Order: sequence, then C-alpha cells, then structure tokens
Amino acid sequence: MRELVAAYYPWIVLVHLSCAIVFVGAVAFEVLVLEALHARIDIATMGQIEEAVMARVRRFMPIVVLLLFLSGFALFDLRCNGVSCIGTARFGWFLLAKVVLAFAVLGVFVSSIWAGLRGRMNACRFRYTHRIVLALMVGIVFLAKTMFYL
Ligand code: HEM
Repeated sequence: MRELVAAYYPWIVLVHLSCAIVFVGAVAFEVLVLEALHARIDIATMGQIEEAVMARVRRFMPIVVLLLFLSGFALFDLRCNGVSCIGTARFGWFLLAKVVLAFAVLGVFVSSIWAGLRGRMNACRFRYTHRIVLALMVGIVFLAKTMFYL
C-alpha cells in the first residue's frame, strides 16, 4: 500500500494542497469579506445571504474535507513511516501538532454543519465559528510549511 502511495505522491500532495486552498479560502472569504458586509447590509438580508452561503458550502465542502483528510492520512503514513516519526524529531512534533489542529477544525466544521441542518446556526455562532476555524487554519498552514524548514 505504501508503495502505491509513494508512486502517486506528487498527485496526492496536489490533491491535499488543492483541497486545503478551497477549504481555507472559503473560510477566509467568510471572515474577511462576508463579515464586513454586516456594516452595509441590514440584518434580515444578511441572514438570508449567510443562509444561502451555508447551503452552497454544504453541497461541496464535505467532499473537499473528505479528500483533504484522506490525502492527509496517506501523506502522513508515507512521511512518518507509519507513526514512527512522532516524538523523535521536530518534524514529528510539528506534524503531530498540525494533525491535532486539523482534527479540531474537523470537529468545529462537523458541529457547525450539524447545527445548520438542525436550524441552530445563528449569525453570532456563524461569525465566531468561522473566526476560530480561520485561526486554527493559519496555525495548520504555518506548521505544514515550517515542519520542513525549522
Ligand atoms: C484542515 C485540514 C488540513 C489543512 C488545511 C492542511 C494543509 C496542508 C498544507 C497547506 C500542506 C502543505 C502542502 C504543500 O505545500 O506541499 C500540508 C501538508 C501535509 N499535510 Fe495537511 N492539512 C490538513 C489536514 C491534514 C491531516 C488530517 C493530515 C494527516 C492525518 C495531514 C498531513 C499532511 C502531511 C503529511 C503533509 C506533508 C506533505 C508533503 O509535503 O509530503 N494534513 N497540509
């Protein structure tokens, strides 16, 4: 299995990076663009816009997140030789921290999708959820790149 992953390594990295760009990009858009519209658009209209955005995101993001995590596991197995890099060098610690943050993001993402489906997502929760996820993602991307160089 590891030989197969190694053979397709560049493609798996490409899938992982592309999914990360879509995921992080969508959250950055919500925090940096959508939130700023609150100052210019009334609450009722803004609520409708956010509902429409969430409905659209729910259509494709679960697939993107699934591919992100599946490719992440394959890359982890290859880079870490199973789990043997964990705790042995700085690379292993950084990678472990990155995965922990990624699971924190997954937890927040799943709970917000769940809340949206059950009609429990209000504007305030929407805003804070996205800010937390964006902060976690900045940490993940920082670790993803520095784990190779620091
Ligand atoms: C929110 C979830 C995640 C995000 C945003 C994310 C983001 C990234 C980014 C930006 C890179 C650098 C890719 C490059 O420039 O070549 C990367 C690399 C990597 N990620 Fe993730 N990742 C996530 C989840 C995961 C998970 C769950 C795992 C493992 C279980 C994982 C394992 C890895 C590994 C091993 C690499 C190094 C790939 C290599 O260059 O060989 N990632 N990730």
